[in-house]
Amino acid sequence: PLVSITDMLNKALEGKYAVGQYNINNLEWTQAILGAAEEEKSPVILGVSEGAARHMGGFNTVVKMVEGLIQDMNITVPVAIHLDHGSSFEKCKAAIDAGFTSVMIDGSHHPIEENIEMTKQVVNYAHSKGASVEAEVGTVGGQEDDVVGGIMYAKLEECVAIVQETGVDALAPALGSVHGPYLGEPNLGFKEMEEVRDAVKIPLVLHGGTGIPKHDIDKAISLGTSKINVNTENQIAFAKVVREVLAAKPDAYDPRTFIAPGREAIKQTVIGKIREFGSNNKA
Ligand code: G3H
Ligand code: ZN
Repeated sequence: PLVSITDMLNKALEGKYAVGQYNINNLEWTQAILGAAEEEKSPVILGVSEGAARHMGGFNTVVKMVEGLIQDMNITVPVAIHLDHGSSFEKCKAAIDAGFTSVMIDGSHHPIEENIEMTKQVVNYAHSKGASVEAEVGTVGGQEDDVVGGIMYAKLEECVAIVQETGVDALAPALGSVHGPYLGEPNLGFKEMEEVRDAVKIPLVLHGGTGIPKHDIDKAISLGTSKINVNTENQIAFAKVVREVLAAKPDAYDPRTFIAPGREAIKQTVIGKIREFGSNNKA
């Protein structure tokens, strides 16, 4: 069943665990993630970046594919289709109109007044359609698709303003996390996370979930983080296995023979994350 992230995350905040957002790139990615969530009895958020949506054909293709898999795989756990790092009101609206149940409006590259304005517009539209909205303040480091940036910490007063003025459902305050692998240990702003949690009282989102050690995951969850985004780790797991299979069988050409093992690697990676985040048996 397709749902927004609102209920999922409020329950996670209350129950002191986090729901993973796992980004999808294609059919096999989606099968792997849905399969892992169903096996673990976990709610799940399928993250779709604008670039990944383009790669798959468009927002409508993504929704129809996910709906088809939910039916054919007999998926019973709550599933959200969430636009990741939506760049504009128009993109968010198009995703919702195609059937996405949730969107992130990433206005973090704009001055805060504009970010609030964009977010407000998206929240009004999304809520009228039963969809949820995540906003971002500050800047996550590293690169994802078209989005590049250095780390910039979210300011507490900006977090409070955006939540109060827009009625957004979840907030991603950038506090030192990075997209892609970390160079050394991540250095997350836990003191700031606690302050933001206490001030905004809505579920917090941690971007750049790849490579964050378990003790930091636990700490983030204890300080109000209810959604953790993971993308690169699945890509690395997939690519590693596909490379190994192709190296071992240089004459292979049936794509299923090397994609299926890659799909299994993603599934096992997601199962590991679900258990780390504590969302197993929470569906
Ligand atoms: O929005 C998606 C993420 O924040 C994923 O970050 O690729 O470092 O796991 P990651
Ligand atoms: Zn992100």
